[in-house]
Amino acid sequence: MEKTFFIIKPDGVSRGLVGHVLHRMERRGFVIERLEMRQATPELLREHYAALVDKPFFPKIEEYMTSGPLLAGVIKGNRVISSWRTMMGATNPKDALPGTIRGDYAQAPGDSGGIFNVVHGSDSAESAKKEIALWFGSDAL
Ligand SMILES: Nc1ncnc2c1ncn2[C@@H]1O[C@H](COP(=O)(O)OP(=O)(O)OP(=O)(O)O)[C@@H](O)[C@H]1O
Ligand SMILES: [Mg+2]
Repeated sequence: MEKTFFIIKPDGVSRGLVGHVLHRMERRGFVIERLEMRQATPELLREHYAALVDKPFFPKIEEYMTSGPLLAGVIKGNRVISSWRTMMGATNPKDALPGTIRGDYAQAPGDSGGIFNVVHGSDSAESAKKEIALWFGSDAL
């Protein structure tokens, strides 16, 4: 069975959406294998978002993701990598469909330009491996 890495981002935690998000995973039949409250460091985020470090908006990501505690975890299930991405919805909440987490719980970016979209999920099998090992160590793979 497949595993993926997810985050309930600092806005999801501070807005009290943890239960809603975990409920959706459980309702879908995914098994929560790891779950930990963490404070992300700039160093960890640079590795986690390595593909985005050179983008002009990376400082916004860093500010957002270090703005408070987040919940990091691993879920397991059939085709969970792509299913979880579908459940999250589009990156920008303005494009996320109702019924998705981002479409149900997040707003289009405001004047600050920051995209506060509640959840993260690995975008491929390679990313899932890399991210699970980065956040929880290779024993969690
Ligand atoms: N243009 C942008 N301006 C501000 N923040 C952005 C922008 N693009 C992406 N982000 C932030 O960086 C995160 C990572 O972007 P990515 O392109 O990997 O989207 P994603 O895979 O849907 O999201 P995530 O990796 O967080 O699951 C986004 O979720 C968002 O919070
Ligand atoms: Mg991504």
